[in-house]
Parts: sequence; structure tokens; C-alpha cells
Amino acid sequence: MKNRLVLVTGGTGYIGSHTAVELMNEGFDVVIVDNLSNSEKSVLDGITAITGRRAFFEQFDICDKERLRDFFKVYKKLDAIIHFAAYKAVGESVEKPLMYYQNNLTTLMNLFEGMVEFKVPYFVFSSSATVYGQPDILPVTERAPFKPADSPYGNTKQIAEEIMRDAVNANKDLHAISLRYFNPIGAHPSALIGELPRGVPNNLVPFITQTAIGIRDELKVFGDDYNTPDGTAIRDYINVVDLAKAHVVSIQRMIEGKSKSNLEIFNLGTGKGSSVMEIVNAFEKSTGEKLKFKIVGRRAGDVESVYADTKYANEELGWKAKVDLEETLLSAWNWEKYVRNKKRSRLKTN
Ligand code: NAD
Ligand code: WQD
Repeated sequence: MKNRLVLVTGGTGYIGSHTAVELMNEGFDVVIVDNLSNSEKSVLDGITAITGRRAFFEQFDICDKERLRDFFKVYKKLDAIIHFAAYKAVGESVEKPLMYYQNNLTTLMNLFEGMVEFKVPYFVFSSSATVYGQPDILPVTERAPFKPADSPYGNTKQIAEEIMRDAVNANKDLHAISLRYFNPIGAHPSALIGELPRGVPNNLVPFITQTAIGIRDELKVFGDDYNTPDGTAIRDYINVVDLAKAHVVSIQRMIEGKSKSNLEIFNLGTGKGSSVMEIVNAFEKSTGEKLKFKIVGRRAGDVESVYADTKYANEELGWKAKVDLEETLLSAWNWEKYVRNKKRSRLKTN
């Protein structure tokens, strides 16, 4: 869509950067706001190298309401907002709950206040399958009830959806779509952007790629005594570019007036569950690398099995995940190699 400007908060982060690329590929203009608390400015170069265009970039904290108002005054013609900016480490949220409630909810409320004041009609939110906990019925549909949140992080996503519901009910000009991501993995096929975890990764795939490249000694597989075919836990791993495309489709849907209600909710997954050992095997097969791993006890707070019912997203949103697991794991591996080579050449030139 030409001459449409989208604000991407958290746009130098993992999912935001891939979404900025897909938006620009579809002709949207993009302005990224990020405080770089969990990303690097050089990501903008990756986005430019892929798209041949430069996103506008403003570095500030969206919790700063006055700074955000100034932003809205400058970028007067915003058509939509995609809100990725948040803290996302489950374990850290247990230790620092107030930091999580403060950041994840203040940013959301500040943006909604700005949308009302400056008349920005459309909003897409990064929600999470974590809102379902361990669902009673699999695959899990959007109608499954919330389970008590396992962590303050998970609770911020549940509360955020309630805030959005109340905000759109009170402002009939606003339309929002909440996208519940399952487990986003992989990187752009160019290997120019990807996930950049700080410190020891919590998530499975970055831990695997860092182990394969020699930064970690071995992968610890958390539990092989689950009630699953091979005993390891099952998740729905979704390619990050596929995920990014769903955001573009969501924006187009609202602009074209296709929303069925002011707040719509869609699961973003593949519909297929994979166990930890299936991921390990698929990684070895697609990359030709041998992975060192050890079975250890379960990780506290982990659920046994979650995967999406994708029917509603496929049929109503008109979006479907396409990239298969092996290709996705290969993209994660190519990105890991690219990052390490870049670090090595930086060290050599210093
Ligand atoms: P990320 O940390 O890579 O990206 C988030 C970006 O937001 C970072 O660049 C960070 O610097 C920025 N940011 C954080 N707080 C900010 C603030 N107050 N002001 C301005 N910028 C701020 O995370 P991601 O994996 O890309 O996740 C994006 C969104 O998707 C988050 O809301 C996350 O909760 C949600 N989500 C992620 C996953 C996942 O597995 N990655 C799964 C479900 C939902
Ligand atoms: C996947 C599987 C682990 C690491 C988390 C958040 C969720 C969402 C996505 C933001 C599990 C196992 C992992 C390791 C392992 N994020 N594992 N060894 O826990 O499904 O979801 O990220 O919204 O909210 O909770 O993802 O990648 O951490 O784990 O065996 O070193 O891999 O036990 O079964 P998870 P994950």
C-alpha cells in the first residue's frame, strides 16, 4: 500500500525488524520507535540492505508520554501502529514484576491515549500463546479461556488484551487486532536480520544455534518424562517471516474495512506441534551439524504441549504459515554464522 505510514514500536527488535521489512516490501512507509533497550541501531542497516529503503527512526522510551506526544505531533499522518515494544523474558519478569507491568502496560496505554488524541485508527498488538497456559483442548482455538498467568510477563499480555478491549469499546473509531504468537523462530533468509539474544538465551532455538557454533557446551533438554510420544515437550514453532507477514495482512484488513469487530484476535502458529527432540533432529538434518545435548529435569513453569488451531487465522485473516521447520532452522543457523563472522571481523579491525 503506497503513501501509508505505519509506526512500528520495538522495530529494531527481533519480530519488529522482520515486520518492518515485510511492510516496506508491500510499499508501506515505516517509522520505527525503539529505545534500544534490547536491540541495536545497526539493525536499521540490515533492514535497508534487504529492502533498499530506509525506515525513519526515533530513539526514545514509549513510557515517556510527553516525548511520545511530541512524536505524534511530528508524524501527523500515521495510519496505523504495530506495537512490539515490551520486555519479554519470563524468568526476569518473576524477579522484577513491577518493571514488566510498568513497561509493558504503560507503553500500551500511552499509545492508546495518543491514538485517541491524534486520531490514529488502527492498532496491532503482539500478544502471546502464553495467555492460554496449558489448554484443556488441543489444538487451541482463540476461544479457549485464559488460564491464571504463569508469570508477570504472561499476565501483562492478558491485562493488555483487557485494556485494548475497554479502549476500543469506549472509542468506536479505533480498531485493534491482537495476534497471539506461538513460538517464533528463525531469521530472514538473507541472514541480514535475526534474533539477537543478550547473554545466555532462554529460548530453545537460539540456545541450539549457539551450542552448534561452540558458544555453549551442550543443550539441556528440559524433561523427557512428559506425556508426549518421545517424552519431550511440544510447541508450535512458527517462522518469523511468516509471522511478520501476518502483521501486514492485519493492517491491510483494517484499512480495507474488513474487521468483523473493533478488537479481533488471531492465533499465529503453524497448527503443528513439534517436540524438543524433533527440533534437535530437524536442526541436525537441515544444517548437517551435530548437536551436543543432555536430558535434564523439567524447567519450572513449562507446560507439556501447546499448538495452535489456525483455522480462524487461515480462513478469516487469510494468512497461513508457509515456511517449513527445516528451512526455518537453517535460516536460524545461517543468521548465527553471520553474527559470529561479523563479530570476528569487528575484533580483527579493532
Ligand atoms: P525484542 O526484545 O527483540 O524486541 C522488542 C523491542 O522493543 C526491543 O528492540 C526493545 O529495545 C524495544 N523496547 C522495549 N521497551 C521499550 C520502550 N519502553 N520504548 C521503546 N522501545 C522499547 O522482542 P521480540 O521477540 O521482537 O518481541 C516483540 C513482541 O512480541 C513483544 O511484545 C513480545 O512480548 C512479543 N512476543 C514475543 C515472542 C517471542 O518468542 N519472541 C512470543 C510471543 C510474543
Ligand atoms: C521451548 C521448549 C523448553 C530451552 C517462551 C515464553 C513464551 C513466548 C515464547 C513470549 C520448551 C525447551 C528450551 C532449552 C529446552 N515468549 N527448552 N532447553 O517456553 O515455549 O515459550 O517463549 O511471549 O511466553 O514462555 O519457549 O523456546 O523457551 O522453550 O529443552 O535450553 O524448549 O522446555 O519445552 P517457551 P522456549
